[in-house]
This record gives sequence, structure tokens and C-alpha cells, in this order.
Amino acid sequence: MKKIQSVRGMQDVLPGDSARWQWVEGAVGDVLSRFGYRQIRLPLLEETGLFARGVGESSDIVMKEMYTFDDRGGDSVTLRPEGTAGCVRACEQAGLLFNQTQRLWYSGPMFRYERPQKGRYRQFEQIGAEAFGLPGPDIDAELLMLTAELWRALGIDHAVRLELNTLGSSEARAAWREALVAWLRPYEAELDEDSRRRLDTNPMRIFDSKVARTQEIIAGAPAFDDWIDDASKAHFDGLLALLDAAGIEPVLNPRLVRGLDYYSRTVFEWTTDALGAQGTVCAGGRYDGLVELLGGRPTPGIGFAMGVDRLVLLAEEVGALANRATKEVDAYLVPLDDDATAAAFTLAAELRAALPRLRLLVHCGGGKVKARLKRADASGADFAFILGSEELAQGTVTLKALREEVPQRTLTRAALIDELRAPYG
Ligand code: HAM
Repeated sequence: MKKIQSVRGMQDVLPGDSARWQWVEGAVGDVLSRFGYRQIRLPLLEETGLFARGVGESSDIVMKEMYTFDDRGGDSVTLRPEGTAGCVRACEQAGLLFNQTQRLWYSGPMFRYERPQKGRYRQFEQIGAEAFGLPGPDIDAELLMLTAELWRALGIDHAVRLELNTLGSSEARAAWREALVAWLRPYEAELDEDSRRRLDTNPMRIFDSKVARTQEIIAGAPAFDDWIDDASKAHFDGLLALLDAAGIEPVLNPRLVRGLDYYSRTVFEWTTDALGAQGTVCAGGRYDGLVELLGGRPTPGIGFAMGVDRLVLLAEEVGALANRATKEVDAYLVPLDDDATAAAFTLAAELRAALPRLRLLVHCGGGKVKARLKRADASGADFAFILGSEELAQGTVTLKALREEVPQRTLTRAALIDELRAPYG
């Protein structure tokens, strides 16, 4: 029979790798809570209309990447392609936005029907943060300082750079958009196919085209600089001053437009050269119109999401995970024969209660003494705790170091616990 394989673009994180994921997720979660962000847990499935309205009918995500289907009741639902729209929906529904400020974070899988390659999957993990009710550039700066702190915590700060832009107000952007389309129209036939389609749906995304002729054409197009409104310009200048004071040096990229339609003013991406084509590890921006667009009262919002798959790849690539979190077991408890099994479980319970940080594996599956000790070694543990008939009779345990050349010793249970208290208690 043909074996069933995973669905294309969906990855398994196998046990040897999951420790790295846990370490990255743990480090990110720590930084977020140290900055006072609170976790929100959101459903994976939402009404399709949420994304059509929130992310935008003309975005690539909504046009061609969503996992959308009718549920058994005939309602159109979608596996979330991103977290911001759902976060706004949940906050509105629970009344968390009106007259309040919120700093929130979430994590979990997102789904996009994209062409899979290294760093780009159809199910991928994001950790995102959103701040609501804060209109000024201070929160923009805080979010960027928070991300910079994250890269330091993960040991990848030397490998990423911050690209920053402002999209201005929606009115200024609309006026620029009109000028851009008027300017591009005479070149329409020379643009690549995607860009021709975008000319009417989402002309700003034409700046993202990788096609040489399109790039040549767009290089001469009107720049947004000349269209930006004064208030947005002041907001952006305020942000730049705060970043400067914090020692963060962004690369100003006027071509940075982002693929989701809800952004206004500040947009940013943290990028790296170490991952090939999928070099954006974290991206976000301000979306002051989104809450209103989804039926709430006007509420400013700004946030970001990072791709955890890419962060793990990058941390591996730059060696930040070397010697870190790869060990999953500290000790392996070996009953030397089946008569010692029950006592081994009792001892394990005692050790786990006394040494909460000890990761202890108890041998199961029988076998000869030699085979049992071999398994202890193969587990990767630093120690074997051996329990044979002599130890049982005397209430002792034999401690054998598996990674060091030191003679084994037989100790009372209390002495063993005392010895291990410092590292594992
Ligand atoms: P996004 O740029 O679509 O923004 O995604 C954010 C990050 O998720 C990307 O920079 C990338 O690291 C990761 N990512 C996206 N697609 C994939 C994929 N197919 N495979 C692996 N990783 C991927 C958003 O999703 C916005 N909701 C961010 C945001 C929050 N803006 C404001 N608040």
C-alpha cells in the first residue's frame, strides 16, 4: 500500500528539532512579556469575509492564497492566512478596544497556498504583536526596540537589518496612486503580467516586481516623497528621532509597500541575506483604518509578525543555536532486570518531585543488562541511575556518568538527590 505523506508545503518538526523551536519561542515569549505584552489566543478558522475585508480583496493573499471552504453548514470559512485581522475581530467582539490601549501578542500556525521553497511553506508559524489605541510614533518605536531586543536574545542581531518606510495617510496614498497609475499607463504593454494586473488592483505592489523591464520602468515613476501629507511626515520624523536615540539604524526604503492592504503610515521589514530569497524574518506596520473597516470605532493600531520557521533557519545558519537546547534528556534510569521495574518507577517519581528541572527517562522495554545500558548511552543523557538487586536491598542507587571518565558510585537516594539539587532542583 502507498504510504500517506504530508501535504505539500506542510512541515513536521521532528523531536530532534523541536527543542530548537521551543528555545526560539521561549526566548521570544520572554521578551514580549518583559515589555508588558499580554498573550491572546485566537482561532485558526474565521469567516472568509474577515480576510476579504481586512487583508484586502486585491491582495495576493486573498486573491490566490487562502484555504477557503464551505463548512458543513454551508458557511464560507478560511484557515487564517495571518493574525492581525483575527486579533482585531476578537478585540472588537470582546470590547477591548474602545477607550483603551492594548498591547497583545499571539502565536501559531498560518496558512497560505504559496509555492513552497526553503523558508516558504503553506503552513508556517508566526509570533505576532499588536498594539491598539496609540496614535503617536512612540509605540512604533517601542515595537521596533522590542524586535531589536528579540534579535539580541536570539543571537541573530548581526544578521538582520531594519527596512523602514511610511505610506502616509490613505488620502495621500490615494492621490499618489492615481499619479502612479497615470504615469505607468503608457508602459502597460511592457509590464510583466502580474504588474499589468496590479496596475488596476494594487499598483503600489508593482514596486515589488522582480522582472528587469518592469523594474527599469518603475525606477522612473513618481516617488511617494512628493505626495506625503504633513501629519504623516511629522509622525515619521518623530519615529526616526526615537529610533536614533535608541541606537537603531534603519535603512530607509521608499519602495517598501507590503503585501497586505491595511497599512498606513509606518511599515517595516527585518530582513537578512542569510536565507536566500525568503529573507524577511519579521514584518509589520501601522493600520489605523483597520478597526473601523471591520466595523469598530476608529482606533489606531500597529503591529508585526515574525516567521518562526525563518527565525529557526536563520539562528541555525548563523550558529546561534550551536550547543543550545539540543540536549533533551539529563538522566536515564535503568532497572537492571524486570524485578526492579516497579521500584524504578517509584524512584523516578521521587526524583521528579525533588528535582523539578531534571529530565528523566525510565528504561522500558526489558532486555539484557548490556542492551539497557546501551540505550541509556544512546538517549543522550549525562547520567545513568542504575537499580539492581543489590541497590534494591540496600535502598541505594548507582550513579554512572555517561559523558565523563569518572568511576561510578553507589549512593543513598537522599545523597543522590542532594548531589543533583544544584543543577536540577
Ligand atoms: P506578512 O509580511 O504577511 O505580515 O508575514 C509576516 C512574516 O511571516 C513574514 O515576514 C515571514 O517571516 C513570515 N511568513 C509569511 N509567509 C510565510 C510563508 N509562506 N512561509 C514562512 N513564513 C512566512 C503579516 O502577516 C501581518 N499580519 C503582520 C502584521 C501584524 N502587521 C501588523 N501587525
